[in-house]
Amino acid sequence: MCGIIGYIGEKVEENLLQGLERLEYRGYDSAGMTINRGGEFVTYKATGKVENLKKTLKFNDDLGMGIAHTRWATHGKICIENCHPHFSSNGNVALVHNGILENFEDLKAELSKEGKYFYGQTDSEVIAKCFDRLDIKSLRRVLGKLQGSYALALIAKDSDSIYFVKNKSPLYVGFDGSQAMVASDPSCFVGILTEYYTLEDGEYGRINKKEAVFYNKNNEKIEKYITKLDFKVSYEEKTGYDHFMIKEIYQSRIALENIIERYKQEEIINKLKLLKNYEFDRIYLVGCGTAYHAGLIGGYYLREAFNVDVFCEIASEFRYKNLNIDDKSLCIFISQSGETADTLSVLEFCKEKGGKIVSITNTEYSTIARLSDICFPICAGQEKAVASTKAYFAQCLIFYIITTFLKGKDYILPLQNFKRQIDFGDDNILKPLAKNLVKYDKVFFIGRGVDYITAKEASLKLKEITYIFSTAESSGELKHGVIALIDSSVPVIVIATDEKLFNKTLNNAYEIKSRGGKLILFTSLQIDKDIKENFDYVIEVKKTSKEFQSLQMILPLQKLAYFTAIEKGNNPDMPRNLAKSVTVE
Ligand code: M6R
Repeated sequence: MCGIIGYIGEKVEENLLQGLERLEYRGYDSAGMTINRGGEFVTYKATGKVENLKKTLKFNDDLGMGIAHTRWATHGKICIENCHPHFSSNGNVALVHNGILENFEDLKAELSKEGKYFYGQTDSEVIAKCFDRLDIKSLRRVLGKLQGSYALALIAKDSDSIYFVKNKSPLYVGFDGSQAMVASDPSCFVGILTEYYTLEDGEYGRINKKEAVFYNKNNEKIEKYITKLDFKVSYEEKTGYDHFMIKEIYQSRIALENIIERYKQEEIINKLKLLKNYEFDRIYLVGCGTAYHAGLIGGYYLREAFNVDVFCEIASEFRYKNLNIDDKSLCIFISQSGETADTLSVLEFCKEKGGKIVSITNTEYSTIARLSDICFPICAGQEKAVASTKAYFAQCLIFYIITTFLKGKDYILPLQNFKRQIDFGDDNILKPLAKNLVKYDKVFFIGRGVDYITAKEASLKLKEITYIFSTAESSGELKHGVIALIDSSVPVIVIATDEKLFNKTLNNAYEIKSRGGKLILFTSLQIDKDIKENFDYVIEVKKTSKEFQSLQMILPLQKLAYFTAIEKGNNPDMPRNLAKSVTVE
């Protein structure tokens, strides 16, 4: 992960800081900045969030050049020594890195033998120590030594350019005659530049205010297409809310409205038609974390509609399964960011095998979107909180649309009806429940069928922002082992939306009750009073049509996770050890 940025122009600190704030979703373990002013480096570093770095900065409006970094620690603890930028031994070259250098141990041993001293433990510092001077020749020499993923931005005391390299980590560059920039995400250019270049793997070069020089992986000088910065990056504020997470849960309704509007357009209908014309005999749905759970929901929709094998796979496990990918495979990749390294590497693998590549993403300019034959946008707007909420909701809706279109049915009217019915749950019930949940050190979720998928997503949400141990089990599986963990210290959240499965789920709930477990029911079913009495809490969720019931159910469960995190005093937007975009495998 990590976000990198470089800038040449006026107000360097201010522009780099703004970029770092936009890149903070990529990691917030530490942040740092180095400015070249009149041939000398001025460096600022701080552990923790960008706001900590901001407090140390001395702003200067003059012309200058600098690089900056926001870190998600991979190698080496979170401390100032490991905070980027890193420097060459003679102090002439400064560098910021996003990615993982796989052969850093070997290189470090080699450099140590040459007498080079390392002040920290990062793989990135090893790259910096490979340099003494900065020009295309020395950049090429160092690149020849590197294995792994890296987007780099480098400056030197005696150079007027930012040098850059991209390999398996995203990087974009732009200039306009008075300023130049490189960044992990083109959102950093908004308000500064109007056009940018997208680098491909193996490309490198240098940029200053007047020119950009590009080379490909074969060291040939190349011309690149420039892209207009035509997307609006709306920098969401928390306005009216304490945190982005709760705002984004409520924005699920806006995502649905956006989807209804966009998915009426010819542009999207043509994509759906293209998909319908594909011949395939297997479908693979691939993602990580919450995006994988959206894939499970997608699998549930698609299997109900078609007689075709649907495999839902966790991206990081995909390659170990020897799956049979060929031109009859429809491979659908789900990713909010469109940059998740595990998902991206499976996409590249499936593409090479001839699979048809479709993506469902919130980031239409992302690498995953660019590499897809068809990309379906989820129209959720920027999602800032690390815990994915509205994106999950929107990804599931896109699966509903794809399935319904392939069945030849209308999807707009059912979506409009759903929009009118959406219910976010009653805070007067959810908040006291959250107050109670914080007393426990573990929480179980159970469900059957589609409710088991909702249980998985609800459990992930709870653990990632509250740090309470939580796991989801299919109701029927409990008695095969997990029930051994149940006693009076374990609350179990039972999810029940399917009338046909309710009696079985209820029996499983009673098995828990007999062993002293606390029972919390989240249901959209009409339930008799005497049944309700067996539960410590009953949260009744509004009923909607069957295909949307699991989406309706996740909303109060997301809020429960949020309220519990607040009760624990955690910042739900930036949970510990996590980042919004996971660009390392
Ligand atoms: O950007 P992506 O959708 O590819 O991200 C995948 C996961 O890293 C992500 O969904 C993660 O699990 C969320 N933090 C969960 O809330």
